[in-house]
Amino acid sequence: MKKIGVLTSGGDSPGMNAAIRAVVRKAIFHDLEVFGVKNGYQGLMEGNIEKMNLGSVGDIIQRGGTILFSARSEEFKTDEGQQRAIEQMKKLGIDGLIVIGGDGSFRGAQKLTEKGFPCIGVPGTIDNDIPGTDFTIGFDTSLNTIIEAVDKVRDTATSHERTYIIEVMGRDAGDLALWAGLAGGAESILIPEKKEDFSEIVDRLNRGHERGKKHSIIVLAEGVGSGFDFGERIEKATKLETRVTVLGYIQRGGTPTASDRVLASRLGAKAVELLINEQGGRMVGIQNNKLVDFAFDEVFAKNHSFNLDMYNLSKELSI
Ligand code: F6P
Repeated sequence: MKKIGVLTSGGDSPGMNAAIRAVVRKAIFHDLEVFGVKNGYQGLMEGNIEKMNLGSVGDIIQRGGTILFSARSEEFKTDEGQQRAIEQMKKLGIDGLIVIGGDGSFRGAQKLTEKGFPCIGVPGTIDNDIPGTDFTIGFDTSLNTIIEAVDKVRDTATSHERTYIIEVMGRDAGDLALWAGLAGGAESILIPEKKEDFSEIVDRLNRGHERGKKHSIIVLAEGVGSGFDFGERIEKATKLETRVTVLGYIQRGGTPTASDRVLASRLGAKAVELLINEQGGRMVGIQNNKLVDFAFDEVFAKNHSFNLDMYNLSKELSI
């Protein structure tokens, strides 16, 4: 392996830049040439590829977003699209690719690997929904952004003695909601992995109100459904003034936390090591603070699991 490529794909996440930096610097440290692909798989098919050097990744470790930009491409899902992508890389003599992204991006990387082009996946998504890794790059930063918002909403909720529903991202996973709910002291946490009894939520809100609680916070994962619909039902059932806040894309931006920068640096460097060792079709991850790697097939065969203990604890602490 002499020349490798790197791209970011799918929804961006804070820490992707730190991962790109680690890939580029680790590769150059090992005398490899590195090429940055702009706009994810779309840019790969179009040959939007540039050679990178040590300076290309200077001053980016602290920046949110991705300097390589990101995209979701339908065309790349076709055989022709994948073939075009491989041809573009072959033209430049690139013989391995690192893909920083989520589950969908890894499926693309798996296709390229099956066509004989070795790819390594680095988990970068705020959703923390990838099996095989305890954490994905961006989750911690997003979580901290949510917590800052929850704390602010709590102030105004107390002033007006209201119930607030805060809808957070996560796609089909409830990790952001679960962790934010526990860290933010929410009365209820709604996640797609666990069905909540509506009457239990209502009882808890009413009990709190009766004993003089000034406000209630409910954190709802987007995978459960609309926060606005849920808010309407809650207001009707409790007769307590209820407001809804959908946090939206602020959850995806911002300066990565130290934790995300460290994770991104470790995972990015590990991905380069795998390519140097002529491995492809694998994802790198972290488990109990140790770096691990798995075949994409193994990753796809598992379902993301949520932390039931944390969920139960949140219930005990919000009686
Ligand atoms: O996967 C990251 C994520 O932000 C999800 O939490 C959210 O459901 C989705 O991306 C939004 O995607 P888009 O950027 O295409 O609107």
